Amino acid sequence: MEHFAVIQTLCRIGLEGSDPRFRKQVERLRDRLRSASDQKAVAALDRLLVGATSEHGLAPSVVEVSRTLVTGDELTSNVHPPSDRETSVPLAEVILEPGAGKPAPIFTETLQLALDAMLDEWKRVETLRAMGVEPSRSCLIYGPPGTGKTLTAFWLAEQLHLPIVNARIDGLVSSFLGTTARNIANLFAFANRYRCVLVLDEFDALAKMRDDPHEVGEIKRVVNTLLQNLDSRAGTGLTIAITNHDSLLDSAVWRRFENHIRIDLPDQRTRVAMLENFLRPLSIDEDVIKTLAFIVGHRSGSYLKNFADSLKRVLVLGNVEVSAAGIIRAARTLVPRMSLENGISSPARLFVHDESSFVGALLESGIGIRQASLAEMLEVSQSTISRYSREFTTRTANEEVAVHAE
Ligand SMILES: Nc1ncnc2c1ncn2[C@@H]1O[C@H](COP(=O)(O)OP(=O)(O)OP(=O)(O)O)[C@@H](O)[C@H]1O
Ligand SMILES: [Mg+2]
Repeated sequence: MEHFAVIQTLCRIGLEGSDPRFRKQVERLRDRLRSASDQKAVAALDRLLVGATSEHGLAPSVVEVSRTLVTGDELTSNVHPPSDRETSVPLAEVILEPGAGKPAPIFTETLQLALDAMLDEWKRVETLRAMGVEPSRSCLIYGPPGTGKTLTAFWLAEQLHLPIVNARIDGLVSSFLGTTARNIANLFAFANRYRCVLVLDEFDALAKMRDDPHEVGEIKRVVNTLLQNLDSRAGTGLTIAITNHDSLLDSAVWRRFENHIRIDLPDQRTRVAMLENFLRPLSIDEDVIKTLAFIVGHRSGSYLKNFADSLKRVLVLGNVEVSAAGIIRAARTLVPRMSLENGISSPARLFVHDESSFVGALLESGIGIRQASLAEMLEVSQSTISRYSREFTTRTANEEVAVHAE
């Protein structure tokens, strides 16, 4: 069949969604091809259809969140959130499809397990109640900037097929403090009326207000309003608060949340998964990705996304061949303008300024890069790589001796 390779790709992409109408059409096409005795094409489509079935079989089933857990009217595009009376700025944003246009977040295994367990609790309310226990309803997500906290809150709501009422607390804290307490009350009244997940982003803005010595009484009132509203929402819906500065939250606020999820900077393995994902559609050898993840070091997902996008730009604009050596050459031009960790022995610095120590540190790190692929990436012979490695071992041993001698 003419252009079958393209048709096959279209079918593969279409089957990744779970629309039964698309599947039906692929089955129709397969049956037509069978009548036309194109057995090779029939076999290829059969494989795609079977693959799609098993993948969907593995995906978590779509379970509607119990209406006794999340109560209220349905949010629609006709429902408008309340606004600040003085400024007319809306107190929240209604997001009907929180996952639309957003990538799925990538986490360490431990974090993924924690989030899955929390989702499970929210999806299987009746099972819990049969055991006489209520599910938790609130979660505080905290951690350094750019680690995917907001993305995670949206992803959680998407998994539950619930819309979000998204309030940025920094926007809610009015310059007229008296109005802030009213804004908070109005926001909660709105969220409580509808079936939704209430997301309180930049939650530390409230805590930061306490730094203002002139407004002590007023701020107490605002924090009290918040605590009261969190308490009265406890039996109504799901609430996710997000903060970068967990240390600023006072313990009374902290206690209001049943789950505390810390999202840390990604480890090497998670950085590899992120870069693989962010560098798509480029298909890059695993050793090269591991090396890039090592070079970038302890940086956030947001930083890695930026790095991957910049690398793609260098590769495309510079017409650089997407080979192991090409990518490493592109990374070498990129790293000096990426404000990477600047310590004397940071991987990024060694990569640019001291190839021998870079190779030594990389091999020593135990992330499992083969010497042969390292030689290919750096465009040197394998014996040079071995020499770098030996030199590094001798140097670090000598340094240790010197330190002990001091
Ligand atoms: N864990 C992750 N998985 C996938 N992408 C991520 C992850 N962390 C960050 N990103 C990328 O960084 C972008 C910003 O993430 P997000 O806004 O969720 O971070 P944040 O922790 O809320 O940051 P801030 O503290 O600045 O509000 C995302 O849109 C995504 O492209
Ligand atoms: Mg955020």
